Amino acid sequence: MTSFWNWYVTILSLGTIVALTWLLLATRKGQRPDTTDQTMGHTFDGIQEYDNPLPKWWFMLFIGTVVFALGYLVLYPGLGNWKGVLPGYEEGWTGVNQWKKEMARADEQYGPLYAKYAAMPVAEVAKDEQALKMGARLFASNCSVCHGSDAKGAYGFPNLTDHDWLYGGEADTIKTTIMGGRQAAMPAWKDILGEEGIKNVAGYVRSLSGLKNPEGIDLAVGQKTFATNCAVCHGPEGKGVQAMGAPNLTDRTWLYGSGFAQVQQTLRYGRNGKMPAQKDMLGNDKVHLLAAYVYSLSQKAAQQ
Ligand code: HEC
Ligand code: HEC
Repeated sequence: MTSFWNWYVTILSLGTIVALTWLLLATRKGQRPDTTDQTMGHTFDGIQEYDNPLPKWWFMLFIGTVVFALGYLVLYPGLGNWKGVLPGYEEGWTGVNQWKKEMARADEQYGPLYAKYAAMPVAEVAKDEQALKMGARLFASNCSVCHGSDAKGAYGFPNLTDHDWLYGGEADTIKTTIMGGRQAAMPAWKDILGEEGIKNVAGYVRSLSGLKNPEGIDLAVGQKTFATNCAVCHGPEGKGVQAMGAPNLTDRTWLYGSGFAQVQQTLRYGRNGKMPAQKDMLGNDKVHLLAAYVYSLSQKAAQQ
């Protein structure tokens, strides 16, 4: 802050406090135990105002706010370039400083715990009660927006508690997914196959999971289209290829809906689900715990 603004802010702030205090004291009337019935002499809609002194509690409250304001302005940065003298903050208090301090304290407290788990294999961590509790909390604050608080997913966001994996459900694969993120690339077929072609292949794909199609779908043509255009990614039988993140199309799990119209929509415009990378956001140790937590969810599902 330039010296002009420094003084501008300082003088304006302190001047206001002094002026308000003066106003309070200068207009203060002697405190009388009894109230007067003298009025201010004006009426509005038949309402009159008594000329009584301020109640004592109100007066003290006002003085209290002035003392608080001055105390605050000494401790915290509020007056131009003044940095404040709050104990524990050599450079003066700032929101960033406070956050850094809290992070440092948390690292000191939990660092060794994170390090302990980070040194264990993900599948082992997944058996540790305390680690799972930490993982669950990390999940709630970082992942539930997209995958839901029960991790069961939503339209476009995969269920993480089942055994149907886009990219693989081994403990280490899950960690790789969370660390590096994933970007799905399902191309748009509108211009390549045309409406008729899309109808037939959509019908074929739905028939793979046993769904009934409307009249007039040529499944044989659909199958041919699939073999030529789709099998590279989804596999010759449509069972999916995890290396591509291409889902299994023969099961009952649908990321973007199984309705005839929904599947056609998927084919017309393509789909590009994006799992954001957490490497830089959360770092290895936290992702390690999250991977263990996600892994434990699918293990639990296996037992049921
Ligand atoms: C380049 C690889 C690739 C090709 C080629 C491809 N797909 Fe896909 N497909 C994907 C990926 C990856 C996804 C997952 C998209 C996502 O997660 O956002 C997907 C998703 C889908 C879905 C959505 C599944 C669901 O659960 O909602 C359907 C249906 C589908 N593909 C059908 C087809 C058909 C039919 C063809 C051929 C006309 C085709 N795909 C060609 C990679 C491909
Ligand atoms: C902005 C939304 C978003 C957030 C936040 C998010 N994800 Fe995802 N995640 C996705 C999407 C979308 C996919 C599917 C990508 C695709 O379509 O291929 C996905 C995929 C995954 C997968 C792969 C599932 C499979 O079937 O292979 C895992 C594991 C996963 N997320 C875990 C997490 C964890 C743990 C967090 C919290 C750190 C998280 N995600 C945060 C959107 C999100």
